[in-house]
This record gives sequence, C-alpha cells and structure tokens, in this order.
Amino acid sequence: MKKIVIAGNWKMNMTRKETKEFMVRISSFTMDRNDIDVILFPPYTSIDSAQSFKPEWIKIGSQNLWYKDSGAFTGEISPIFLKELGVEYVLIGHSERRHILNEQDEILNLKVKSALQHDIIPIFCVGERKEENEKNIGKQVIKRQIEEGLKFINQEVILAYEPVWAIGTGRAATPDIAEEMHSYITQLTLEKPFTVKAILYGGSVNPDNISDLIAMPHIDGVLIGGASLSSDKFLKMLDIVKKRR
Ligand code: 13P
Repeated sequence: MKKIVIAGNWKMNMTRKETKEFMVRISSFTMDRNDIDVILFPPYTSIDSAQSFKPEWIKIGSQNLWYKDSGAFTGEISPIFLKELGVEYVLIGHSERRHILNEQDEILNLKVKSALQHDIIPIFCVGERKEENEKNIGKQVIKRQIEEGLKFINQEVILAYEPVWAIGTGRAATPDIAEEMHSYITQLTLEKPFTVKAILYGGSVNPDNISDLIAMPHIDGVLIGGASLSSDKFLKMLDIVKKRR
C-alpha cells in the first residue's frame, strides 16, 4: 500500500486560541498507522501554539519562508526561525502567493533551495488557472512551473497539483482529471535530478470526495484548504483515510 499524505493549509485563518482548541479536539483521534502522514500548516503566529498542543502524529509546516537566513528583509521569515519552532515542511509556490503576491519562478526556486539547505521538506505547488485550463494549456503551464521552480534541485521534494480553478470554489477536479495531471507530472519528473516523494492533489477536497481522489493510482495524498479548518471535517477525512486502507 502506498503511503498517503493528508495536509491541511490553514492560510490566513486560526488564531492561537483556535489552534489550541483544534489540537485539543483532534487529540482524541487515534492515528495508529505509520503509512499516513498528517501535516498542518498554521499561520506563523500560531505555529508554537500548534506545536504545544498537537498530538504526536501531526507534523507542522510553514506556509512560506524567505530564502535568506537573516538580514534586511522587513516582514519576511527566515528558515532558521522556522527550524527553531520545529517546522519540518514548507509550502512553496502556492497559487495565492504566485497570483496575489506575484511570486515568480526564479524566487520560488531560491526558496526551494533554501528550504532543502535547512532540512525543511518543500511541498512545491503547481497548477493552471481557469483561463489556461480553458485554452487547454494546463500541462504546458505545469511543465514550466516545475522546470523553472525546481531548476538545479537534486534532492527529494513533495509536489502538490492545485488547479487554481478548483481552489476555494467547491468545484474539485474530478478524480479522472486529477489523475491525468498527476500521471503527466509523474512522467515529466521521472528523468529529473530531483526525487518526487509524493504528489498531492489540492482544490476543494472535502469529506465527500477525499476517498475517490486518493483511490487514484498517481494521487499520493491531499492538500486541504477550507475543510481543514473544521476539526469535525478534518477528523472525518482522517477517519475515511484510516479505514479505507
Ligand atoms: P480549498 O481546499 O479551500 O479549495 O483550498 C485548497 C488549497 O489552496 C490548499 O492549499
């Protein structure tokens, strides 16, 4: 059985207090399987609250980092600060950072390098926008994002395919559409110098569709936004994944 990653990206949600309440509630769940990795990505200010109250089987990631260790970068966060908080993963190239904060391939590449240098596992996100999907150039977009963003990388990374048109819309990619793209990404990355540990799907994942998505052969897990903010929904999804395998 393949290993499954269940990741929750909280985006700009969850105060320290809400984080504590979520973790306390979720601690009653028994995760007795070591073939399921559970990772949560709280906002920076809630990371230590998450670390203090989380059950042992949850790992903590950061939603972003800056690629330098220190210096005059007002408002940015160094990988060293994140390591100090026990962060093990980092999201890089999330569509909201690409399209709202205008982060380009080149800077994302520097961020991936920096994460790896500090032993933080990058979850590198790719995905086409609605208009690119309609023009049928999704694969070209993803190819460029991977080839530019992961240029000269020769270590292990996790990828997340998050079609922008499926994020926060309630309209997830069908398992077949997601599978086709994951299979394309698998082929594309086979000959690259980096190793792909897993390819996650993200975009409107919820308790009703998680089971069909992770049943697909090239989908190794999910990156959940909105539905990971509710401890009830998150527990439901963990339970589904735990029971079906
Ligand atoms: P939603 O699950 O809210 O669509 O968000 C997906 C996402 O962006 C995860 O990184």
